[in-house]
Amino acid sequence: MNTKMEFSGRDIEAEVTPQSLYLNRRTWLKTAVTAGSVMATYGVYRAFNPIPKVVKAGRRLDGVEHAAVNEADLVAKGYLVEDDLTPRQDIVTYNNFYEFTTNKTAVAAMAEGFDTTGWSITVDGLVESPQTLSMDDLRQLAPLEERIYRMRCVEAWSMVIPWNGIPLAALLDVVRPMPIAKYVAFQTLYDPLRMPGQNTRVLDWPYVEGLRLDEAQNPLTLLAMGLYGEELPPQDGAPVRLVIPWKYGFKGIKSIVRITVTAEQPPTSWNRYSEYEYGFYANVNPEVPHPRWSQATEQRIGESGRRRTLMFNGYESHVAALYDGEDLSINF
Ligand code: MTE
Repeated sequence: MNTKMEFSGRDIEAEVTPQSLYLNRRTWLKTAVTAGSVMATYGVYRAFNPIPKVVKAGRRLDGVEHAAVNEADLVAKGYLVEDDLTPRQDIVTYNNFYEFTTNKTAVAAMAEGFDTTGWSITVDGLVESPQTLSMDDLRQLAPLEERIYRMRCVEAWSMVIPWNGIPLAALLDVVRPMPIAKYVAFQTLYDPLRMPGQNTRVLDWPYVEGLRLDEAQNPLTLLAMGLYGEELPPQDGAPVRLVIPWKYGFKGIKSIVRITVTAEQPPTSWNRYSEYEYGFYANVNPEVPHPRWSQATEQRIGESGRRRTLMFNGYESHVAALYDGEDLSINF
């Protein structure tokens, strides 16, 4: 993954360039030609639509609730982190969403106007009641909650984001996984016309992710439909994305169209890209370095200096039991 940050005096940007950018010559040329035409089209578009300096406010979400009676209770459940919130402007202008571009500060402009009208999610696989749900159907399953979570990217930057969403468990309860079910697979929309990055080979498309069923059913695992009380902007994964606060950010798959319950561990995009660098579990763990950089500290966006990274991103008391008896350096 790309990141523009100094780490231990080293230039991470140089080190963290995706391997797929060192493709063989033929693939590279093909990619360059496709990317060139995408950029040319984008250039014409941008000439008439200058990059917005401030990202417009989104549509307000009605009826956001808290799943506890008071603040102490929310903190105890892990639903409220008391760190300062990352300003909305930073959350919506510094993004990873390779379907649009690998340039974090250009995602918002590239994704502007991405139309999610008529969106639906199909839930299938090993479930008693497979269904296709509209966004309205999804909203009916449970009240929208505010969850203020830390987000720690595998690239060693972090934010604190007030998400709005419903527990993924509420959806799983409705479709009823069969007793043989063990995993849940997720898939992002595949539409290269609307997602220009899918015309490049930076990743295999569509973006896919997966969780163990018990991780998916954990009350912290959220299907987010908004942030800061507004509908998710396209660059943050509109209209619905996953948030698993104890895992690295890349597990938080955006713009989900399909959820499939399975018996086998499903493939995941970054693991497929480099299995030695990006594990299936991807639990935040300061003691297991990425092969190319340490995970001991992080850069909180908007802060100077670095913070110590916390085990399971600070959610240890809520999730450590999920991994009892496992070697976290093997199941990384
Ligand atoms: N989902 C899709 N479909 N495509 C992506 O490129 N990037 C991931 C994750 N979800 C990504 C994705 C990564 S690497 C991170 S860190 C988070 O989204 C970033 O979420 P944010 O842009 O809302 O901060």
